[in-house]
Amino acid sequence: MGLKEAARQIKETANIVDVVAEHVNLRRSGRNYIGLCPFHEDRKPSFVVSEERQIFHCFGCGAGGDVIAFYMKFHNLTFGEAVQELARRFGIPLSLEKIEPSSERRTALFELNEKAKRFYEHLLWGAKAGEEARAYLASRGLSEKTARLFGLGFAPTSFDSLTSHLRLAGADLALAAEAGLLVPREDGSFYDRFRNRLMFPIFDSNHRVAGFGGRILGDGEPKYLNTPETPVYHKGSILYGLAQTKGAIRAAGFGFVVEGYFDLLSLYDKGVKEVVATLGTALTPQQVRLLRGLAAEWYLVFDADEAGLKAALRAAPVFLNANLFPKVVVLPEGEDPDSFVCQAGAGSFYALREQAKDIFDFMLDLLSQRYPATPEGKLALFKELKPAFEALKDQMLLELQLVRVAERLKVSESALRAALKGVAKPVVGRSAPKEARSYSERTLVEFVIHYPEYLSDFLKLGLLRHLRDARLKALVEILSGFKDGCTPADLTLEDLELQALLSEILLSPPPFEEFPPERVAEEIKRWLARQEQKEKLVSLLEAIKEAEASGREEEALRLLRKYQELRCQC
Ligand code: UTP
Ligand code: MN
Repeated sequence: MGLKEAARQIKETANIVDVVAEHVNLRRSGRNYIGLCPFHEDRKPSFVVSEERQIFHCFGCGAGGDVIAFYMKFHNLTFGEAVQELARRFGIPLSLEKIEPSSERRTALFELNEKAKRFYEHLLWGAKAGEEARAYLASRGLSEKTARLFGLGFAPTSFDSLTSHLRLAGADLALAAEAGLLVPREDGSFYDRFRNRLMFPIFDSNHRVAGFGGRILGDGEPKYLNTPETPVYHKGSILYGLAQTKGAIRAAGFGFVVEGYFDLLSLYDKGVKEVVATLGTALTPQQVRLLRGLAAEWYLVFDADEAGLKAALRAAPVFLNANLFPKVVVLPEGEDPDSFVCQAGAGSFYALREQAKDIFDFMLDLLSQRYPATPEGKLALFKELKPAFEALKDQMLLELQLVRVAERLKVSESALRAALKGVAKPVVGRSAPKEARSYSERTLVEFVIHYPEYLSDFLKLGLLRHLRDARLKALVEILSGFKDGCTPADLTLEDLELQALLSEILLSPPPFEEFPPERVAEEIKRWLARQEQKEKLVSLLEAIKEAEASGREEEALRLLRKYQELRCQC
């Protein structure tokens, strides 16, 4: 089966609402579902999914299309890759020669990672070599059940255990190096990247092994070794544990963000399952969008020290930009989530949530310890908060925070407002600038898309000739190539821009909704006919001028009569 046919079957099988809901928090709104757009910093839900039509559209940034378009955009895939992955998920057979090389390679990388994961697991649980690692797990108080659920494994000390395992299995070692599992030597041979380490597979949101983190057993450098960036592992867009915990987060409506593998595993093991880990790096906008798709209430777990302050100052703008207002859970000094939950238990950890601080308060508390209460100190302090204020999009929240910060700094609000000058922008959506389009052309196309039964009549009256906007024209050309019985929503357009245009039109109300469509269609037909006459008039006029200029008076007169005749009919 080819890509096109597979795409058609995917659209018949997959419900776009389910596929989107894996990544975006949707709620029902009338006949559609709405949510915050995952493709831009959305302030209010402008992202609409129609179950009926099986399309999505964002009225903020203009993204839109069918389930395949969503998948392409969300996972940053080509059409072929998206079709292949969706076909796999929905059990639709796809012949191999149709698969794109890039997609085939990604699949191969995932498969190698999966092989490595099984090998490491086998060594941890089954072999003598894994004894020390099992003892280490036990010493950290992690149950076998949790360790198995997260696919933990063990990479032994030798330089070629995975290498020879893969060689024996007939795997492509160069590809394994590309997956970050092996490291090439200058002589063309390979050795294991991960040695004497407890292995943590890192899953993507489709539960495939994208990469690994490996913790040294005992002391040693570096403490953690991670998969480098590969075609399937981008650390800025993955969150550790998400594949296992997203259900719990969704159900609870909130989640904790921690920094380490062990923090997440210990919390989970002790019963706090609403948690994701960042793997020690600063949260990216992409990761925050993933979080936003799961829940609205997020708790960042930070230390009440310089490191915690730095992390909060970095994280605050990213969250606020995505319209999430995070809270901060502060642990007792010297504790991390892992040590705290092991000692105090899940109940005490949940209790910390009750005392969570507003992120502005958290930053202020620490900043006011760092800066003196002098005018210069206050100014310097406020400068640190500026990026957070600048990211605060909600005017109301901005005002409220200004009042609170002014109070705490004992500075007038107007002084703060002046310092923020240019920040307190008016509340207008930051939607992408739309190019000017001719309204009547657009209305015509909107009409035929909502009422395709009139398309052939309009085409006969020269509809295509009236469309100067290339995208509108392309859309109508594709529609006109359609057999009867197909509706525009059945369309698969590989061109994402055209898909977005189509979905926007389909999800907007039809033009002249208040009139019966057959009356509107009659009017449009008359208008089209008139347009045709106008064009004829223009060319007649030109011919008349030409005849007069070249002294063919009789012909000019004849044309003029014709012109007047035609004018009367208009
Ligand atoms: P931590 O040093 O806090 O480690 O780093 P941890 O998670 O508490 O580990 P344990 O409890 O000592 O075993 C937090 C996270 O930063 C990343 C890892 O993702 C780690 O979980 N990290 C840390 C690295 O990637 N490399 C390192 O060398 C250290
Ligand atoms: Mn730790």
